Amino acid sequence: MTDTPALSQLAEAARAARASAYAPYSKFRVGAAVLLSNGETITGANIENASYGLTCCAERVAMFAATAHHPGARITALAVSAGDDSHQHDSDNGRMPCGACRQVMMELMPSEAPVWIDGVGAMPLSSLLPTPFKLRTDI
Ligand code: THU
Repeated sequence: MTDTPALSQLAEAARAARASAYAPYSKFRVGAAVLLSNGETITGANIENASYGLTCCAERVAMFAATAHHPGARITALAVSAGDDSHQHDSDNGRMPCGACRQVMMELMPSEAPVWIDGVGAMPLSSLLPTPFKLRTDI
């Protein structure tokens, strides 16, 4: 999938959003940004919790914030970036979105929407989750 100017801007927003991570336990910063059909960009970062299981990934923070604040808009693209601010640790590049976030993307985004992953590039959501769980067949 070819990177568009809009996707490049979204990528930069995701990288910048890493600075907002609340990650005192893992020290692993993740930033995400979603583009909406109304032109707005909404960012998110991972928010950890002392009760580890309550941690929320950057992608879901961004998608939930976008859906809560712009209920009528569709999410048309998502970008995610993991790693430290210098981005010099190769091991932090190419971190793929977790399975839970892929399922939420499939709920809130068109299946062919581009998902840009730092160190990897852009790919359609359907290739990240080819067989999603679905409760309804009409959405
Ligand atoms: N994390 C994300 O923000 N997105 C993912 O797709 C996977 C993992 C976060 C959660 C946790 O704060 C940290 O990365 C380490 O797992």
